[in-house]
Amino acid sequence: MGTLETLTRTFEFSDYISVLEISYILASILFILGLKKLSHPDTARNGNLWAAGGMGLAILFTILFHKTKLEDGTYQGIQNIGWIVAALLIGSIVGWMAAMKVKMTAMPQMVSLFNGMGGACAALISLMEFPKMQNMLAASHASSMISGEALAILLGLGIGGVSFAGSMIAFGKLDERIGDIKSPILRYINLFFLFLLLAMVVLIMTMTPQKDNNLMIYILGLLALLYGVTFVMPIGGADMPVVISLLNSFTGVAAAMGGFLYSNQAMLTGGILVGSSGTILTILMCKAMNRSLLNVIIGGFGGSAAGAGDQGDKTVKEISLSDAAVLLSYSQKVLVVPGYGLAVAQAQHLCHEIENLLGSKGVEVKYGIHPVAGRMPGHMNVLLAEADVAYEKLLEMEEANNEMNNTDVVIVIGANDVVNPAAEDDPSSPIAGMPVIKVWEAKNTIVMKRSMAKGYAAIENNLFFLPKTRMLFGDAKSTLQKLIAEIKNL
Ligand code: TAP
Repeated sequence: MGTLETLTRTFEFSDYISVLEISYILASILFILGLKKLSHPDTARNGNLWAAGGMGLAILFTILFHKTKLEDGTYQGIQNIGWIVAALLIGSIVGWMAAMKVKMTAMPQMVSLFNGMGGACAALISLMEFPKMQNMLAASHASSMISGEALAILLGLGIGGVSFAGSMIAFGKLDERIGDIKSPILRYINLFFLFLLLAMVVLIMTMTPQKDNNLMIYILGLLALLYGVTFVMPIGGADMPVVISLLNSFTGVAAAMGGFLYSNQAMLTGGILVGSSGTILTILMCKAMNRSLLNVIIGGFGGSAAGAGDQGDKTVKEISLSDAAVLLSYSQKVLVVPGYGLAVAQAQHLCHEIENLLGSKGVEVKYGIHPVAGRMPGHMNVLLAEADVAYEKLLEMEEANNEMNNTDVVIVIGANDVVNPAAEDDPSSPIAGMPVIKVWEAKNTIVMKRSMAKGYAAIENNLFFLPKTRMLFGDAKSTLQKLIAEIKNL
């Protein structure tokens, strides 16, 4: 018995309640507490660390305490520890560097890439476990593979494979490496692969186990990859954040299958938490856009010429920096409505600076946050928290709308769809029914953007032509810098 073996053995309580199992329960508790802390910007960073700590604990204890029962009845500890540590180190370094380097606006791509890796891991576990299971069943002359274990393996491969391939396509689309293919034929090909995938799972479960015959499982893996590609391919690049969240929940379920397979509580809880939070997030995003999940999946959102306020020969009114500075400085209540453009311009720190500056002049400044402003859930909250904006200053959409009538000036910074009145007054608009921040109800509206370009939904915005709206064109960062200088000069 090696030293590690002797050391770990002395910590074991019994064959039934092992130190390893207790560590998994602790890890699960850390995941849950971490997730809870993620729900508030002040505690989110710690929440992430808690959950990562739980995962670290589970990994460390698995390496130290996991034992496999051998045929002669003895137990064997984890082998190839050197390889495992090397893989952990490489993965951690690559993950760390990617997370440090990634721009806030490229976050969805990174989430997609990392999610795909999770799906691939779940699929690989199944590919490794299936031959072992089949050989065992073949040796015991079983007539079929109908069992919970086989189902967990096959679903782990199917769902994990779809999640991996789908996430890679989602990554490509978000990074603008892959374009949208909106052919209706793809929908049928898609359904055909889904049918084949499900049929293959049933076929493998019911077939007689044969020693070393693993062709079917490889075909299942291939089908899962093909379905992942055809599933995501027809969905518009603009809908990728919702798709990623959905694929995230798939990865969670695939990982939970691994948890069932190994009776591993940490994997099971982790998988279920990822699966359920991904599902909840998907539903929330669809609700905030007033669209069904089916509408997202069958695609075709945005860019339609129908309705959505034709510009015609309408003109916009501009406001000069000095006029904007005066208007803001002599207001009582100002509401900042940030959007995707704020993230692109990385102007969040200047937002906070103008808030402080106006605050020192007695102006009350708050922020109106739309749930899908930006490109990922909580995008604006994360950006503003990064710039130390106090959480109490952030109003949710409904609160912001309630205060709109007695707001003197709204400054829309790089937002477009989330302040588009077409959602309320144009039933033919692709965003009809989507709840929006009603900035046009304030006494004055200043819109900061670079041009008259459309937003994510690729539709016109009549807000820009309303009598109370004035445009302040330019990059959000440089415009805010100049505006701050003007206010200081007053
Ligand atoms: P968008 O409607 O995408 O509009 C962003 C605007 O920012 C653009 O019109 C652009 O106009 C402007 N902009 C870009 N770069 C800028 C810069 N450097 N300086 C100043 N302005 C800049 O953004 P939104 O209002 O935040 O709406 C988000 C959209 O994403 C919604 O349609 C939502 O449904 C969708 N979506 C969000 C999510 C999540 S979870 N957040 C998920 C899926 C879909 P210019 O080019 O003229 O500057």
